[in-house]
Amino acid sequence: MQAFRTTLLACAALTLAACSQEQSQQSMQDEPAAPSSNTSAADESAMAGVEAPMAPTDAMPRATAMLKGTQGNESVSGQVVFQASADVVLVQAEIKGLEPGEHGFHVHENGDCSAPDASSAGGHFNPADHEHAGPDAERQHMGDMGNITAGDDGTARVDAEYRFLVLDPEADNSIMGKAVVVHAGADDMSSQPSGDAGARVACGVITNAPQ
Ligand code: CU
Ligand code: ZN
Repeated sequence: MQAFRTTLLACAALTLAACSQEQSQQSMQDEPAAPSSNTSAADESAMAGVEAPMAPTDAMPRATAMLKGTQGNESVSGQVVFQASADVVLVQAEIKGLEPGEHGFHVHENGDCSAPDASSAGGHFNPADHEHAGPDAERQHMGDMGNITAGDDGTARVDAEYRFLVLDPEADNSIMGKAVVVHAGADDMSSQPSGDAGARVACGVITNAPQ
C-alpha cells in the first residue's frame, strides 16, 4: 500500500505521461495476487491470514493522451484526460498553440501518430459502422467528439461528457490505444467521411492511466 501511495503522490507532482507508465507497471505487478496485491513481499509472512484492504471497487477506467503538433504545427501541444463514470466518459483537455476558432476533435482508429501529417492515425474510429456526425446526433462515429474552440490566446480548454465513448480497456470497441487528433479547421458534423475539418495539426495516442 505504501508503495502505491507513494506512486500516487509522485504522480500528483509529475506529468501524467511519466506517471501513466509508472502506474501501469505498478498495476501489472499487482495483478497476480489480487486481494493482497498491496502487500509487499517483506510483509507477506507477517500478514498471513490477515485480509489486506480491498482495492476500491469503484475504480473506473481512466486514460490520457499527450498531443504533439504535426509537421509545420510544432507549436501545438496539449493533454487530454478521459475519465469513465457510470453513464458517460468525461473528457478534459488543454491544448495550446492553435489558431483561434473551432477545430475538429476526434478519436481516430489507429494509435499511430508517427507520420509527419498524422495520416498514420487513419480515419475516425467507427466500430459500429455509422456515418460521420456530431456528438449530439442520434448516431455518429464513436470518434466524433465535435469541435474544440481556441481563444485569442490559441488555447482550447475542454470539459465535456460523451455518452458514446467506450473507455473500458477490455472492450472490443474501446478507444484505449487509439489516437486523438485535432484539426486545422472546424468539423461541420455532416460531410462524409470526416466533417471536412482539414489538416491534422496535433495527434496523441490514448494510453491507459489507472487511478
Ligand atoms: Cu479527426
Ligand atoms: Zn467521424
